[in-house]
Amino acid sequence: MSRLVVVSNRVALPGRAGSGGLAVALQAALEDSSFQDRGGLWFGWSGDIADGTSGQLHETRAGNIDYVTMDLSREDHDDYYNGFANRTLWPLLHFRMDLVDYSRETWDAYRRVNALFADRLAPLLRDDDVVWIHDYHLIPLASLLRERGVRCRLGFFLHVPMPSSDILAALPHHGRLFEGLSAHDLVGFQTSRDLERFQDYVRLFGRGRVIEHGVLETATGRRLRAGAFPISIDTDGIARQAAAAVGKSSFKRLARSLSGRALAIGVDRLDYSKGLPERFRAFERYLQRYPDQLGQVTFLQIAPVSRGGVIEYQTLRSELEQLAGHINGGHAEPDWTPMRYVNRNFPHASLTGFYRLARVGLVTPLRDGMNLVAKEYVAAQDPDDPGVLVLSAFAGAARELDAALLVNPYDLDGVAAAIARAVGMPLEERRERWQAMMTRLRDHDITDWRRGYLQTLRAA
Ligand code: F6P
Repeated sequence: MSRLVVVSNRVALPGRAGSGGLAVALQAALEDSSFQDRGGLWFGWSGDIADGTSGQLHETRAGNIDYVTMDLSREDHDDYYNGFANRTLWPLLHFRMDLVDYSRETWDAYRRVNALFADRLAPLLRDDDVVWIHDYHLIPLASLLRERGVRCRLGFFLHVPMPSSDILAALPHHGRLFEGLSAHDLVGFQTSRDLERFQDYVRLFGRGRVIEHGVLETATGRRLRAGAFPISIDTDGIARQAAAAVGKSSFKRLARSLSGRALAIGVDRLDYSKGLPERFRAFERYLQRYPDQLGQVTFLQIAPVSRGGVIEYQTLRSELEQLAGHINGGHAEPDWTPMRYVNRNFPHASLTGFYRLARVGLVTPLRDGMNLVAKEYVAAQDPDDPGVLVLSAFAGAARELDAALLVNPYDLDGVAAAIARAVGMPLEERRERWQAMMTRLRDHDITDWRRGYLQTLRAA
């Protein structure tokens, strides 16, 4: 029996609001009975920006889980989080080379903050711990821990896409990132496509050899495993939450406000990877091309502001405000506004109710590692009268949810046609599609995801 140590940039501290799907999943992993006897540790950024230098630790304990978090200075936060993580890696990993902003300064800060994570974490680790590191903020961490003598099992999971090797190669120091990844015992990706792109990179850039699918040997002779572990949701929990939400006032208010019209819903962080301007334009195309359905649908886009310190996100916000105003100005009637655009977050229990109310779920990212909104939308539906998921083929979720209406988010006519088709889809077809997706989500839920990953890591 070993202790599970989770490391991620963000930590869902007990009692603090705003935990997303990932936070819930990791919390559940730490509480998993197979680790219970030894307790757990969650290590990451405190979410606070210190006046002075980075590195101050804070510790709290809840149940038998320790939470140890570290402050970042303003400069480190700007250059590591806003800078290299979110202005260099994030666009690159989402195939947006046009948005990549690279500088030596932010690369240095990324290395520096990862080294500080390693300095603070290494003394807390025991040789029989199982350490699970999450996401693109912390790619070099494992190699820095190894340099500090850490010998325990180290696993990594990339929540975002693995780009093709030519895109990765555009990043100065991509070899150093590979070194970071290869210091793990297991590297997990969302889909088999991501895994294949990683293996292609290893082959094409002479980083080592693929001994067999999912087993690699680096040029320096280190062996590691790599695999696809599609992240999922608490399917039954969300289904129950959505059914219960029908009695809540947030559900009733929204339902009343629709005056019998169908609801199309989108829920995304305000991020350019989510394809929001394209989605807004596709909705406008739908209004123009399907006059027989005019006035039948209200589109609600919930888009909480994200990474507001990054210029590209500020620009996107202005663009969306302009577009929403343009669409409503051009198509609204005195008694009907085609789209509602909301920049705040809602409690998860309210959101699942909104999903259940929506005849159409619009999940059309230009690129997404998985996209849990797609999965939650499906799990939240009323089995007797399910809605229709319109899903981008470029979201990892499309590999499992192929009974959705799959669209190319760049093809506005195609998305508009899918909205019209979803609105008019007969009940029988809706049920068939929903059943196929729900079966998959029941077979492979969040528990299955983390157990699958951790068993492979323990065996690696
Ligand atoms: O999609 C990647 C991801 O790290 C998610 O796991 C997480 O919900 C989201 O980005 C949050 O981003 P941030 O921590 O920058 O607010």
